[in-house]
Amino acid sequence: MNLKPIKILAIESSCDETAAAIICESKDFSPVISSNIVSSQIDMHAKTGGVVPEVASRAHMESILPVIEESLGNEKLENITHIAVTAGPGLIGSLLVGFNTAKALAYSLDIPIIPINHIEGHIYSALAEREKVEFPILALTVSGGHTSLTLVKDHLEYENIGLTLDDATGEAFDKVAKLLDLGYPGGPVVSKLAKGFRDQGKTAEIIFPRPILNDGTFNFSFSGLKTAVLTKVKQLTANGESLSDNIKAEICCAFEDAVVEVLVQKTLKAAEQYNPKSVILAGGVAANKRLREELSRQLESNGYNLILPSPELCGDNAAMIGVAAYYHILKNDIKSWNEISVASNLKL
Ligand code: KG4
Ligand code: ZN
Repeated sequence: MNLKPIKILAIESSCDETAAAIICESKDFSPVISSNIVSSQIDMHAKTGGVVPEVASRAHMESILPVIEESLGNEKLENITHIAVTAGPGLIGSLLVGFNTAKALAYSLDIPIIPINHIEGHIYSALAEREKVEFPILALTVSGGHTSLTLVKDHLEYENIGLTLDDATGEAFDKVAKLLDLGYPGGPVVSKLAKGFRDQGKTAEIIFPRPILNDGTFNFSFSGLKTAVLTKVKQLTANGESLSDNIKAEICCAFEDAVVEVLVQKTLKAAEQYNPKSVILAGGVAANKRLREELSRQLESNGYNLILPSPELCGDNAAMIGVAAYYHILKNDIKSWNEISVASNLKL
């Protein structure tokens, strides 16, 4: 029997961040983040306008051990009681680097390993360092590869009530940024230009559609919205002129308004139907200020409690994987290195 206090080494490498974190158990039995190291490949992928899978895997290979070493700090590897690792969904070549490193560590240290779904990790990013969590929780997860509304009935019990039918929210931000020649990743820059436009006291005259807002489901669709932006750009550049910075900022503002309204309204309707104890916003797009503000305003004015992850836990990181693993450990849902597998399309 393992009597050492829980100390998890968590590893995440599903896309373009190589990450490792140490999660400990506090005296009042909540998961505490003692370190959280992320090595981003963004500068590398900015040159190609997006993630090139093989380039990403090679970069993970280079940084995985230094990142783990940095996350350990003065902590001795022998004091680690569990390894946690992202087992999917994600880019298979990227996932394999973190996954095999984690397996090798669990094997050599002879300790249990906990495979974690990346989306589950995002949801748990909002629950780090919280003692008491009440269920059900409604989670809106919005990232570069994923968009969903999930009912979390208890720890680790999920029911997806809505999914994107096509592009993920972050993917739509990235594609719009590409159309406007704003670089990669698109979310932060689109959001910055939109804010600059609003800060001048302006409102966008361009109005983009709110896809499937009133279709009676909790699903999302963003590819038509991206096409609407493309059509607008073509229309405005038909005479051979390029777009001014001001028009680009207006398009960003109109696009962000449309995305935020759909996300907020669908979440509000789902909250009305399922009456959750709390609502969680998670995933890379959860760093979006407009979305955070509008969701807080609308949910709180309707009496719902919103839990927002801190901005540094919104993007991909290993702390969220370790926090989710902590709850698997409490349920004794732990595995041995030879019992686990990785899947690029792993479902929640
Ligand atoms: O969760 P994440 O780091 O990786 C995936 O699991 O996909 O999410 C990355 C996505 C990218 O599409 C990025 O453009 C988007 O999150 N993103 C944002 C913002 N910051 C990152 N989207 C909108 N506004 C932001 N401030
Ligand atoms: Zn993610």
